[in-house]
Amino acid sequence: MTASQIIQKHISFFEKRGHKRISNSPLVPENDPTTLFTSSGMQPLVPYLLGEPHPQGKRLANVQNCFRAQDIDEAGDNRHTTFFRMLGNWSLGDYFKKEQLPWFFEFLTKELGLSAKKLYVSVFEGYQNIPRDEESETIWKGLFEGAGIDPEGRIFYYSAEKNWWSRAGEPEKMPSGEPGGPDSEVFYEFDVKHDLKYGKKCHPNCQCGKFMEIGNSVFMQYQKKGDGAFVQLPQRNVDFGGGLERLLAAVENQNDIFQTTLFNSIVRAIELTTGKSYRNNSRLMRIVTDHFVAAAFIAASGVAPSNKEQGYILRRLIRRGLDNFYQLEGKEITPILELIVEEYKETNLYLVEKFEKIKGVLLEEEEAYKKTLHQAKRYIEKKYRGKQIGDELKGVTEVSSDDAFTLYTTHGLSPTQIKSLGYTFDEQAFAEKMKAHQEVSRKGMVKKFHGGLADHQEKTIRGHTATHLLHQAIRDVLGKHVHQTGSNITTDRIRFDFNYDKKVIDEELKKIEEIVNQKIKENLAVHFEILPTEEAKKVGAIGLFEDTYQDKSKIYFIGGSTSSPQDAYSVEFCGGPHVDFTGRLKRFKIIKQENIGRGQRRIYAALEN
Ligand code: SER
Repeated sequence: MTASQIIQKHISFFEKRGHKRISNSPLVPENDPTTLFTSSGMQPLVPYLLGEPHPQGKRLANVQNCFRAQDIDEAGDNRHTTFFRMLGNWSLGDYFKKEQLPWFFEFLTKELGLSAKKLYVSVFEGYQNIPRDEESETIWKGLFEGAGIDPEGRIFYYSAEKNWWSRAGEPEKMPSGEPGGPDSEVFYEFDVKHDLKYGKKCHPNCQCGKFMEIGNSVFMQYQKKGDGAFVQLPQRNVDFGGGLERLLAAVENQNDIFQTTLFNSIVRAIELTTGKSYRNNSRLMRIVTDHFVAAAFIAASGVAPSNKEQGYILRRLIRRGLDNFYQLEGKEITPILELIVEEYKETNLYLVEKFEKIKGVLLEEEEAYKKTLHQAKRYIEKKYRGKQIGDELKGVTEVSSDDAFTLYTTHGLSPTQIKSLGYTFDEQAFAEKMKAHQEVSRKGMVKKFHGGLADHQEKTIRGHTATHLLHQAIRDVLGKHVHQTGSNITTDRIRFDFNYDKKVIDEELKKIEEIVNQKIKENLAVHFEILPTEEAKKVGAIGLFEDTYQDKSKIYFIGGSTSSPQDAYSVEFCGGPHVDFTGRLKRFKIIKQENIGRGQRRIYAALEN
């Protein structure tokens, strides 16, 4: 069974149970200032989990490309990847535990053919006034007994640290307004020995690699309030996510996901081009595989390496991937990229179309990185010329921690990269400088994203409506071939990207700003309609519409409606939310424009408070 067959089985299993397939959302999310990447299938569904009706109904399923930057340092073991595909199914206030858990059990044992004897589960132990999940325990008991297995020793209770899910993590970490809930995970047991390094006794959440989590059913029924208390959401939801790579590992009974049929040809390409074996270099090769796969998907989303936000993550992935590749004495990355596209094209055909672009981004970044390494060396050589600098005979040069830190701040080199250039330094002193530096940037981040989610929703909602006006105004002034390629809204500013390969001249910028302000003055009504997708296209809806599965879509009108589309100023495919009248935006101002490369420009704008 291949990875794409597992996807097909998942979709058809849930379609048979009344679910509608929804599309894979862009990896770089639209209009969500709180995160750089889509990291779970539920992320684009937050408004619907909170109670807005979804155009496709109450039962949804999909497969979502996800990227988790926080797992960069975990990459290298048998089961973590930064990029992965998540199978998802959702109940938006429809079915709950007693359907979800039996369905997942049935999917694993009947559809994927896993032996129930290999499965172990976890349930939520309780937190403050949120009760222990005995209902799930009872359901699991029945399922194991039904499969002729003694449930004793199969069901484990864990605290909120392990069995509670929200985008922000545990209950204490959640901002006010955030939805979350207890969850129940399923683990697959591999026939390997427990590694005592990880504790005396093995259990499903032990890190030794004997157990692998293969799916998580979140019972999303709570919302955190401003005073820290948890209240019931207006509806009880199910948010299920299962890692495709891990499900495949279970199907193949292979406890190293990099040796499954999904990854082994990529690993083989690394072996061939480096002349090294996976067996002796598994950690390095896993990092190379993971980082280049993730970089390929991020580059295909239109991100270019830079020192900021998504671009910074992409840069880090490519450079770290290269460090590991060079340690393997690898020279040419193209054959690996070719294999990556080959492996993923069945479910992500656009990678084939974008291959040249992906290759271009990675090769250019490799050049830039080589240049940086060269400059870093020159910096040290110049600084230490004529001085006694350590034991050069041994090929190592001791540099001061200040200089090493300069290599980090101005050349962007990590301690490992600095060491790989042959420099040693006081690592403790370096770590202290790093800590102080991170504290300063953390404060900057908090300021930038102050409020995070629901607290400041009105400000970001206003910004969101402004992007629709801006999008249309840009098309009015620059032409209908111009369209949005990305956006990001914080409480302080709006950032809007579009395809346009030259500078927007001042008069045009002024005109765009004037149109938006004119539309604000007209105080147009904003509303949404749920329309069959074909009809939506007929009324001229624009937007980042990539969906091939959804037969119905949510469309936002600014002015006009389906019956009078000619009165509408803007009609866009969009999940919302938006303000009710454009007058609420008060005044719109363009702050600056930037060239972000690859024929794209970026406008920063702000609204009056
Ligand atoms: N949101 C949950 C997760 O990411 C389940 O989909 O694990």
